[in-house]
Amino acid sequence: MSDRPWKPFPLTGKNFTGADAVTMNDIAPHDNPPALVDTFNRRLSYLRISITDQCNLNCVYCRPYARCPKIGHQEILRYEEILRIVRVGADLGISKIRITGGEPLVRKGVYAFLKQITAIKGLKDVSLTTNGVLLKEHLQDIQAAGISRLNISLDSLHAEKICAITGHDVFHRIWQGIQEAHRTGFSPIKLNMVPIRGINDDEVSDFARLSLDHPFHIRFIEYMPIGNTGIEGNRRLLAEEIKQRIESVGPLLPVTPVNASDTARRYRFENAKGEIGLIQPISSHFCSTCNRLRLTADGQLRLCLLSNRQMDLKTPLRKGCSDEDLRELLLEAARRKPMEHNFRASCEDTLGNHMSAIGG
Ligand code: 5AD
Repeated sequence: MSDRPWKPFPLTGKNFTGADAVTMNDIAPHDNPPALVDTFNRRLSYLRISITDQCNLNCVYCRPYARCPKIGHQEILRYEEILRIVRVGADLGISKIRITGGEPLVRKGVYAFLKQITAIKGLKDVSLTTNGVLLKEHLQDIQAAGISRLNISLDSLHAEKICAITGHDVFHRIWQGIQEAHRTGFSPIKLNMVPIRGINDDEVSDFARLSLDHPFHIRFIEYMPIGNTGIEGNRRLLAEEIKQRIESVGPLLPVTPVNASDTARRYRFENAKGEIGLIQPISSHFCSTCNRLRLTADGQLRLCLLSNRQMDLKTPLRKGCSDEDLRELLLEAARRKPMEHNFRASCEDTLGNHMSAIGG
């Protein structure tokens, strides 16, 4: 077609020599900026960043005492290094960031860092996952940094059990932090609960009931045996069993997800203020719509939570790579993202690396 305003880009790239071949000079530099698209055509727009492997709690299923090696201070990415990765990522289409840990609020200087990250051009959504222990006294700092969405891990509604799970007597502090966050206007507030048989599985329906009169999103996450925690994978509750227990409270109405990449299957009870989410990394992959990358506390770009495939960004950063090099590395990482993980409900393998370093 002669009136086409653009020339078709040759599929075979460099070696194409046909009549329609275009050279790089024919293309305006920013007509079609490269984006992070993997070989399965998934556009990667979401980066989860663990800013520290350290935590003020020692949850039995995540980072129990004595089982978790500490990453050396020098090995942890500095804030400037993280910000550089995010700036380059944002130019390639990263628009959503979640800051996780460990416990992100224990890292020195975190509030100033959050302010810098939310100011990066191109980002539409920056949110935070916390265990809530330091929430109450820092809500203003978090809000002033431009963050309005919080995920809070809470695995029991009983003070003694929280103490048994986390190793610390912190339930009341966490609960006050959650209520205060709600009063301060954070929304939505998502509460993450990981049901494990013999630990907190008897509380599934109580957690679900919370959504009746609190505007919280209660999210049940299937336990993934990551790292050497001592909790066997077969103690997890899979989503169908969790759902059955929730339905003992009342019938669940499906909530249509806003984003196709939403990992939660969402429901609510009739007339409830909040909602329920089931996150089932084990029993039903959400790989086909996965839009995520993860940056570990020690600077590895992890391409899938449940696969050990990762790319080292820290070494090139510290060897003085340019933004252009970094950009190429991110594009290359996107190309290497696996189609799906092969972790199954029946599979009792555990993955190396602790959740606290990867950041959930
Ligand atoms: N399996 C499932 N969820 C986990 N989390 C931490 N470790 C695991 C695990 N092994 C959850 C935490 C937190 C979220 C980011 O990940 O409860 O809320």
